[in-house]
Amino acid sequence: MDKYKVTHRLLRQSIKSLVNRQLTSNNPIYRFISAFPLGNGGRNPQMYRSFGSLATKVERNPSFSSLNSDDLSYFKGVLGEKNVVQDEDRLETANIDWMHKYKGFSKLLLLPRNTEEVSKILEYCNSRRLAVVPQGGNTGLVGGSVPVFDEVIINVGSMNKIIAFDKVSGILVCEAGCILENLISYLDNQGFVMPLDLGAKGSCQIGGNVSTNAGGLRFVRYGSLHGNVLGLEAVLANGDVLDMLGTLRKDNTGYDLKHLFIGSEGSLGIVTKVSILTPPKLSSVNIAFLACEDYLSCQKLLSEAKRKLGEILSAFEFLDSHAMDLVLNHLEGVRNPLSSAVHKFYLLIETTGSDESYDKEKLEAFLLHSMESGLISDGVLAQDINQASSFWRIREGVPEALMRAGPVYKYDLSLPVEKMYSLVEEMRARLGQSANVVGYGHLGDGNLHLNVSAPRYDDTILAQIEPYVYEWTSKHRGSISAEHGLGLMKANEIFYSKSHGTVQLMASIKKLLDPNGILNPYKVLPRSILSYS
Ligand code: FAD
Ligand code: MLT
Ligand code: ZN
Repeated sequence: MDKYKVTHRLLRQSIKSLVNRQLTSNNPIYRFISAFPLGNGGRNPQMYRSFGSLATKVERNPSFSSLNSDDLSYFKGVLGEKNVVQDEDRLETANIDWMHKYKGFSKLLLLPRNTEEVSKILEYCNSRRLAVVPQGGNTGLVGGSVPVFDEVIINVGSMNKIIAFDKVSGILVCEAGCILENLISYLDNQGFVMPLDLGAKGSCQIGGNVSTNAGGLRFVRYGSLHGNVLGLEAVLANGDVLDMLGTLRKDNTGYDLKHLFIGSEGSLGIVTKVSILTPPKLSSVNIAFLACEDYLSCQKLLSEAKRKLGEILSAFEFLDSHAMDLVLNHLEGVRNPLSSAVHKFYLLIETTGSDESYDKEKLEAFLLHSMESGLISDGVLAQDINQASSFWRIREGVPEALMRAGPVYKYDLSLPVEKMYSLVEEMRARLGQSANVVGYGHLGDGNLHLNVSAPRYDDTILAQIEPYVYEWTSKHRGSISAEHGLGLMKANEIFYSKSHGTVQLMASIKKLLDPNGILNPYKVLPRSILSYS
């Protein structure tokens, strides 16, 4: 298994260099953000923001206070001078999201070192009605992790200790600031695997993963964090610490409240500790990179893989030729492992099992049969760790390649697999030459990433995409947020996937846990339904 231990520090570095590159004033994305922060005809920028082509208009909640010198003294008293960050460069990075679409104006980043400190600063913020945004690795893709106005940013990145690991049960207990890749490495050394893996592993924190209920590349095998997270500790807006850090697989004593915090995107509390069930590392991993000439073949291949590979299937990912072109054109050192011509679709299939010869035999028989029946037109099996990493690099590199290509409208949809790609084709027909419509994602989970790569952010393009994409998804009873969350981007679109009664109940829960609405305001729930005095 060691041979397939793939590290993604490179991604971390490239994200960093991307951030640095894009923060220069002549970068088109940066210029866009700077040009459109206001839509207010000269009103105070701190009160009203329109994200122009991002279709998001927000008014600052007038009940929130602004920071003053007493606040700073209080925070310094609790956290120590160096964990109260006012440095402009550090704030610049913390104020802007990974895609460089959403930019806030926070003047303060707080770095608590333990739960008690989180509790003290939240209690204080609540009493002063200072709005806060919890931030992890800031790799979120829906504008949830950065302030909209002047919210105080709280990052638990210094809380990055592994608290306990039980080698018999495979249960890991750790602080929320642990970087996902570090947990993956730690578990690998212990002979276990993290049930979660994703392209941003080098930067994202487990607290951020839990708060977004991240899906990722192993979902098809290990399922959702709602199943794998056994317990957590969270701090509420008023500073109360909720200890739900259980380590039991079965526990039906009352309502299982931890689930409220999994996927609530920092709107109900700050996650400070997590316990996760991790499966043992198995000795044989195989990865195939395949080509299909039409989408129907991809679908059939998925059904076949589920049936024929069964329990050893551990990833089933896809990208179309547009996504492949972007990766080949924008990422250094990436090449298409399939020599012949251009193919319409590419699939990455991984198996993980405990018997090398049995697993390989099974996979080879599946591939042979799929080739003979014409489902796959070409394919290659990784021969070593380098080849395996290079296959994963192609799939995991798509978001980065899109970023390098320029402005991108991102949609993350759950749809019936048989319908999924029709949406990509319809969008292509709607947009014509004005944009590059790209489809990729977690086919095994029915999760499409529909991305529209455009020369610039433009209201005309946006009007071609929205609300069409949401209406289409709703009509097919899909979800407008499969795994990335709603954040700021889709807070007002929640009704496309959830009933009015459900959203009302969510708003009541929010009001109960965060009566002043200080936690990640303007995100997740629609402004129309949240009223704060
Ligand atoms: P952030 O981006 O900092 O925050 C995300 C949200 O969680 C925000 O609303 C924030 O307020 C909240 N939050 C963060 N930490 C806490 C905390 N301790 N307590 C309470 N709230 C908190 N996502 C997927 O689901 N699957 C993928 O395959 C995937 N691949 C990606 C690949 C790339 C290259 C990138 C850039 C992103 C990808 N993402 C993916 C999106 C993103 O990485 C995930 O949403 C991730 O879980 C976010 O973690 P983070 O620590 O960066 O959180
Ligand atoms: C992925 O699967 O690559 C991620 O969710 C990121 C993205 O959608 O771009
Ligand atoms: Zn994804």
